[in-house]
Amino acid sequence: MVGWTRKGTVKGRGARTPFAAREAPSTVTPAAEGDGRKEIIRLEGVSKVYRMGDVEVQALKGVDLTVYQGEFIVILGPSGSGKTTLLNLLGGMDTITSGRMVVNGWDISRLTVQELTEYRRTQIGFVFQFFNLIPTLTALENVELALELVDGDHRGKAREALEAVGLAHRADHFPNQLSGGEQQRVAIARAICKNPPILLCDEPTGELDYETGKKVLALMQEINEKMGQTIILVTHNSAISEISHRTVYLHSGRLAKVVKTEVRKRAEELEW
Ligand SMILES: Nc1ncnc2c1ncn2[C@@H]1O[C@H](COP(=O)(O)OP(=O)(O)OP(=O)(O)O)[C@@H](O)[C@H]1O
Ligand SMILES: [Mg+2]
Repeated sequence: MVGWTRKGTVKGRGARTPFAAREAPSTVTPAAEGDGRKEIIRLEGVSKVYRMGDVEVQALKGVDLTVYQGEFIVILGPSGSGKTTLLNLLGGMDTITSGRMVVNGWDISRLTVQELTEYRRTQIGFVFQFFNLIPTLTALENVELALELVDGDHRGKAREALEAVGLAHRADHFPNQLSGGEQQRVAIARAICKNPPILLCDEPTGELDYETGKKVLALMQEINEKMGQTIILVTHNSAISEISHRTVYLHSGRLAKVVKTEVRKRAEELEW
């Protein structure tokens, strides 16, 4: 990865969290479960109920999970098992019904709306299945937009992020002038440009062909290893679990099992 350094780390600012560890991680540590490494995400009995009139959908049912700094976690599960719900809760896009969720020192079950906005802005980068780029903005402008409200040289940071995903030469192209894989790389640049400690990815390769999908996964693996970002990646593709440190299996809103990957593969070696 060219030109990317672990700088510009953003600090959390919420007032109501009882935890001391409010600063984003400053060192990169190799990931393995436990080993005294810093816990970055803790879910305790997390449930989510959607109510629509008289109908209740229990999307998550008492999920307990601890994730350590620098881990690459893959979440697998059938359609409707609660994967996106879990990601949206972690991303502060939705609120839990019961339980407790602490992310990098932010007790997000207790945040005010304002604090939640600050949390999303400083702690989370999101990568979606359908890229979600703004069609009337260039690649560079799409990345720059994510830096709104951040101090400093937006254009420089955006260029640096595009360079990190190998797309500096496409900075002035509009999304419809880019391939699917390139659009997803712009979306990844947008997610990492603020250097958030956590990246949440919902089916990031769902719309991509085999080779392009593998390239995007290789980029995620590189980001995880070189920048030390904790990555939570949701997918239907069980082969992707082979690049994870651990895979979380959801079933009907419950955490069915968590499996450690004994021999991790490089993304380039994956086959499906
Ligand atoms: N906003 C919502 N309102 C009501 N029900 C919802 C809402 N979002 C999700 N659900 C329900 O919660 C359950 C879990 O949905 P979720 O989107 O988390 O599943 P998923 O595992 O991501 O599925 P997929 O693999 O199809 O994307 C489903 O039964 C779904 O219908
Ligand atoms: Mg989903």
